[in-house]
Amino acid sequence: MSSLETLFEAARAVQAKAYVPYSRFKVGAAIATPEGRVFTGCNVENAAYPVGSCAEAGAISAMIAGGASRIGEIVVMGEGEHLVTPCGGCRQRIREFAAPDVRIHIAGPEGIRRSFTLDELLPFSFGPDNLTDR
Ligand code: THU
Repeated sequence: MSSLETLFEAARAVQAKAYVPYSRFKVGAAIATPEGRVFTGCNVENAAYPVGSCAEAGAISAMIAGGASRIGEIVVMGEGEHLVTPCGGCRQRIREFAAPDVRIHIAGPEGIRRSFTLDELLPFSFGPDNLTDR
């Protein structure tokens, strides 16, 4: 299996664990670090709706808790016929740990549907450099 197929399978496996009693919309995210470590997350909703968290946020938390801090590649797996691209907040969360050319693969159950670079999804972004290079 290629590393991208492994990442796809990891996203699919974690998507099944999503806690989504309100939207019934399961999302899974799998991050590969540049060294090939894989971290996953799923969306976790809450009766107080705004407190729910996205799959990408969970995967980033797992990455940081695991001692890694760079995203090499990410697969986001959603449901339905539309592309489940990361929400605006998650694009910014990914930005913190990813270079502009990092690829974000958007998948459905049948496979990867489309791939974007971070820069395509979040052009002219604000990031850590804004605070350090001054
Ligand atoms: N959601 C994610 O987890 N990631 C995305 O990229 C888009 C949306 C979740 C949030 C909420 O639990 C559900 O999908 C419906 O918005």
